[in-house]
Amino acid sequence: MSIIIKNGTIVTPKKSYISDIRIEDEIIVDIGENLEDDQAKIIDATGCLVFPGFIDSHTHFDLDTGYTRTADNFKTGTAAAIVGGTTTILDFATQNKGETLSEALTNWNKLAKDVSSCDYGFHMAITQWNEDIKDEIKIMCSQGITSFKAYMAYDNLRLNDGEIYDILKCLKKYNGLLSVHCENGDLVNTMIKEQLNSGNITPAAHPLSRPNIVESEAVSRYIDIANLAGAPIYIVHLSTKESLEEVVKARKRGQKVYVETCPQYLLLEDSLYLSDDFESAKYVLSPPLRKRDDLEKLWKALSAEEIDTIGTDHCSFNFKGQKDHGINDFSKIPNGIPGVEHRPVLMYSYGVDSGKITKEQMCSVLSENIAKIFGMYPRKGVIQVGSDADIVIWDVLSKGIISKDNQSQNVDYTPFEGFKTVGSAKHVFLRGKHVVENGNIIKRNSGKFIKRGGCNF
Ligand code: URP
Ligand code: ZN
Ligand code: ZN
Repeated sequence: MSIIIKNGTIVTPKKSYISDIRIEDEIIVDIGENLEDDQAKIIDATGCLVFPGFIDSHTHFDLDTGYTRTADNFKTGTAAAIVGGTTTILDFATQNKGETLSEALTNWNKLAKDVSSCDYGFHMAITQWNEDIKDEIKIMCSQGITSFKAYMAYDNLRLNDGEIYDILKCLKKYNGLLSVHCENGDLVNTMIKEQLNSGNITPAAHPLSRPNIVESEAVSRYIDIANLAGAPIYIVHLSTKESLEEVVKARKRGQKVYVETCPQYLLLEDSLYLSDDFESAKYVLSPPLRKRDDLEKLWKALSAEEIDTIGTDHCSFNFKGQKDHGINDFSKIPNGIPGVEHRPVLMYSYGVDSGKITKEQMCSVLSENIAKIFGMYPRKGVIQVGSDADIVIWDVLSKGIISKDNQSQNVDYTPFEGFKTVGSAKHVFLRGKHVVENGNIIKRNSGKFIKRGGCNF
């Protein structure tokens, strides 16, 4: 049976227009005015916006940190994603030390298969680099894993500059893309010790151990390494005005630098760490929250289209039983916050509704740009004939308040507690299946692995 979505305002990066959409099976087959089919199921979208399904290219579900596991796994994390309007996530499959990339991919496939409520793919996080791993890059790309990740911080994960250079050279051959967590790991280690030696053990010491320059130095170094290698790069969770300046400079001299930021770096300030109370462990993530000036510069950059994507870096740990591992030592608080459910509503409420960005720009940074950068376009990221029918019918009149008590994320808090919201995902279609109806999930576990091609942005 076909489905016709009637009278909605279809949003694209260039324009928004009222039209009907007809879906057959998994695909959009027609877009036009007054589409008719007596047999079709009709969804009235009058007064609503119709977005291509949102894509979150930065999640950590079912991640084992060595002593604890993230609160959300693929079952709970993807269900929370789809309720919020996110129809595809890209998670970080991570190579454990001693493992091949193929083994890591097998592990992640097992975690996600049959339990995911939205579509999914993986970036491959490389934590060990040698000739054997290099030989696996071609295999990964042929299996649809076309983006990779390296860390410049975290001792158990990080690679050195030479290895990052070598990975970039190798990826160029296969049109693969390397995203990097940019923080100077040596400085972080020393500055953590400095804080602890001075008796600063509370979460308030976390941002002091990772000031802006710890990020911007690493961003600048990564950009220089990429310049030498002659490769495009992607920077995850950029949070500072200084890092932005480095990116703008690099682009002016012709480098291809893609940039992601996250709602927390646009909406939450470092003043949240000021209380000496352990409550602020809820905001311990890396990079840490920044100052108002950074937030304002990020919003301006978003509006000027200098930031390409918004991801969440969803990496949830319960406050009770997980974050409190660091009650006597802030450096032992597991890093990360939840957000996969709330990214669309936060960006609509505090971006579009408050006039900082347009709905068309929201469509770019939450959907189309991500699909293009990570090799899923035009299957994903756009409402056009032939594309997957991943569609969000967005009720612009709906109002709400974010709370741990009304969220689907499987975690005992939200960093956005009490945030007032405008708009919500009223209906969500995943490859033509009606999976969210009037804000409630009605069909679970329909997510599939998405094999991706190279970057075409
Ligand atoms: O604190 C964070 N962001 N944890 C998740 C892992 C990462 O750095 O992306
Ligand atoms: Zn990171
Ligand atoms: Zn991350």
